[in-house]
Amino acid sequence: MSLERTFGMIKPDAVAKGHLGAILSFIEENGFRIVALKTKRISRHEAEAFYAVHKERPFFGGLVTFMTEGPAVVMVLEREGAVTKWREIMGATNPANATEGTIRKRFAESIERNSVHGSDAAETAAQEIPFFFSQSELS
Ligand code: RTP
Ligand code: MG
Repeated sequence: MSLERTFGMIKPDAVAKGHLGAILSFIEENGFRIVALKTKRISRHEAEAFYAVHKERPFFGGLVTFMTEGPAVVMVLEREGAVTKWREIMGATNPANATEGTIRKRFAESIERNSVHGSDAAETAAQEIPFFFSQSELS
């Protein structure tokens, strides 16, 4: 396997509750290099565009409101098999179904307020990384 990059986000619920440090430590413990990272107040326009794939879903309005309620942290993560590994340590979308020890099991409040985001495929990562980062921010 070769080095791969994925896009990750620590959502407003986890930042507000002070879980940023614990989540970043866990990411590093799992062998990721944090290539780029910044705090970001996501606008309604950005949230709608970022989650456009879900725009017909009943939870879309609530999701956009949640994602804009406070600062989030956006990041680019690198390791072998980064896309799959990051999704694995995030845990299932609904924390009730998440494996013990995953981020969502430990910190998520609900299926919506679920603490972290991760690209679901390499192709998605290739779109989501430039959505938030310019080339000069990626080292
Ligand atoms: P994400 O895109 O944020 O990494 O999450 P995911 O792949 O695990 O889940 P996805 O199906 O892509 O859903 C995107 C986000 O929408 C919210 N959601 N709410 N109320 C609901 O039934 C519901 N379902 C999804 C969650 O914040 C989810 O992460
Ligand atoms: Mg998703």
